[in-house]
This record gives sequence, C-alpha cells and structure tokens, in this order.
Amino acid sequence: MLKNFWYALEFADKVGREPRRATCLGQEFVLYRTEAGTPICLSDLCVHRGGSLSMGTLNGDCIACPYHGWQYDSDGACVKIPANASERKIPRKARVDAYPAVERHGMVWAFLGDLPEDERPPIPDIPQWGDPAFRAVQTEMVIDANYERTFENVVDASHTPFVHGTAFGNPAKPEIPDFRIRSDDWSAEADIQLSPPPPKGLWGWLSRNKPRPEYVTVTNGWYLPNVVKLHVRLPIGDLILYDFNIPLSQDRTLVKILGFRNFFTGAWADRDARKRIEKILLQDRPVVEAQRPELLPFDLSDELHVRSDGLQVAYRRRRAQLIKDGWWVGGDDVVTGGAPQRSATIIASPARRDNPELASAWVHKARNPGDPR
Ligand code: FES
Ligand SMILES: [Fe+2]
Repeated sequence: MLKNFWYALEFADKVGREPRRATCLGQEFVLYRTEAGTPICLSDLCVHRGGSLSMGTLNGDCIACPYHGWQYDSDGACVKIPANASERKIPRKARVDAYPAVERHGMVWAFLGDLPEDERPPIPDIPQWGDPAFRAVQTEMVIDANYERTFENVVDASHTPFVHGTAFGNPAKPEIPDFRIRSDDWSAEADIQLSPPPPKGLWGWLSRNKPRPEYVTVTNGWYLPNVVKLHVRLPIGDLILYDFNIPLSQDRTLVKILGFRNFFTGAWADRDARKRIEKILLQDRPVVEAQRPELLPFDLSDELHVRSDGLQVAYRRRRAQLIKDGWWVGGDDVVTGGAPQRSATIIASPARRDNPELASAWVHKARNPGDPR
C-alpha cells in the first residue's frame, strides 16, 4: 500500500454533518464537513483511550469523542477535556493527525501522507464529472482480495473474453492487438482494440438498428495510487468507469465506482447501468479472491508477463521505484484486520513535518519508512 497520495475515500454526497468512518491503508479515519461545507479528515483514533471519533458528534467545526467527550478541532488539536477543571491546561500531546481533504469530481479525497503541498502527486482528472452530456451512477462492493489484485484486474484487457464472456467479452476473439502506452510518473493509459459481443437486454434492444463494429476502442488506464479508468466506446455511446480500489486492509478492498454514460441519460436508465457494472464486478470477484499469492509480488520476475500485460508491468515498475523512495505501508503498520494489537501506528500527517517541535508530541507513533515487507 502506498502513502503520500490523495485517496478518494467516499462519494462526496455521503459526507455531511454526520461523522462518517472511512478505512484506507489499514487505518481508520473520520470524515465530516465543517459548517462552511469543507470536508475534514482526521485519524479516527482518540488519543485518550482509542475511542472511535466517527461514533462521536459534531460541535460546530469540532468533533467530540463518544467515550469521554474530548473535543478536537478540524486541525486535530484537542480543545476541550470535559473531565478537567476549566483552569487546567490541555496537554500538548492531546491531538490527532489531520489530513488535507478536498472535494473533487464527486469524491472526497484525503492526502494520506506528510508531503508538503507542492510535492504532492496530482488528483486524477475526471472531466465527465459536471459535464451535462454525461450521467453518473455510483456503486460499490467489498472484495476479499488485496487492492493491487483488484486494481490490476481492471487494467487487464486480456481477461475480458474469459471472465466476462457473458457480459462484454467475446470468447471467440481473445487476441489483444499490440497497443502503445502513454505514461507519466503518476499514470499510464492505452487504447486497446476489443471485440465485443452484441449488447443484450435494454441496451441491445435500444441499439438494434445501429451498425455493429468488429472492434471497439477501449481506453484503459491507471492513475496512482489506486484508480483505474475504463472508457468503452459502444455503438450507442460512451461508457466511462472510474474504479477506486480502496485498501481496507491487506486482503480486503472496497471498490467504489463512478460510472458515466452519454446515452440514455435519464434517471430511468440508472438502475440498468448500475446493474451492468455490478454484474461485471461480480464476475471478477471470485477470480481475484482466489489469486495466489494474495499480495502482488514485489519482484517482477515472480509472475510471467506477456505483451498484453503492458499496463500492469508499467504499474509494477513505477511501484518498485516508490517503494525504494519509502512510500510503502505494510506489515506492522496495518491497524485493521488480522490479530488484535497493543499499539497503533499512524500515517504521518503534514503537521508532523511542518512542526518538528510538535513531532514528539504525538501519542501514536508514525510509521518509519524502511522495510517494504
Ligand atoms: S477515548 Fe476519546 S475521550 Fe476518552
Ligand atoms: Fe474484469
């Protein structure tokens, strides 16, 4: 799992004035909005006795822990300890990590890392969001597999005829013509020719008079750390999926999807569009859940790659570089899942770096870069 990235943690319309828990990188966070509507992301772990702030209540822009009512402001500093006499000072250590958060493209994103603003990798662009030509649906599903396995699955064109032969793959035409990858430090994408079977159901009926091409161009791409785009050009219009693979723990992934279409843009077709996306996910699920090893190997030579795996190989190469740079989170740093633990480590937030004098003031230790396993 990679830190120092913007992670889309929740659909923006789900984050409001009720605290909401979000899990990512094996850590728990609380999301809420200030009275002015700004999204806030704090570590969910109260430093008093580990109460879950997301079960607490908002008081203005502050959040009160449900256990003993300590209140933290939106920067994570404790501003009230109800059991203390009012003249007693609040200890400097009474603070939780606050992560930069923004709303963009219909999602709430949090920067899970401590890089200063100008060094942070970009949030991927989603130009269809807010474009009146497109209609968006949301869907999500938990998959019992590592997020890099589910992430690579969406980038992977050659599994389509086999896993999705009854939905949008064509088992009679499994060959993937060579494609060229366009990439930069944070993304890679390619135009891939896929041979689709005729559409079924509502979409098939509504497009029955359209000519059917032999190939459709699918633009498939990844955006670090965990977003995959799948742009399918159907005879009836464009279907564009953005797939957020959120690592709940090492072996559990919450897949959130924003699905855009520029055909049948009425609300009446939403259910059908959502069902089609879910059907694809349900076809992938047992396959990725059964993959071994469960975790994506670190060494490129530990699995065999062929030409059509180019996008995944590009990901694994870039990831190897970032692991060298110390951006990996794993092993003991994972708080969720697995065995009960006696201590919690936290992804360091920017305040720890901005204010070294404060760095020693945290109760929960930040993880140290180093051992990638
Ligand atoms: S555990 Fe949060 S106030 Fe005590
Ligand atoms: Fe798939």
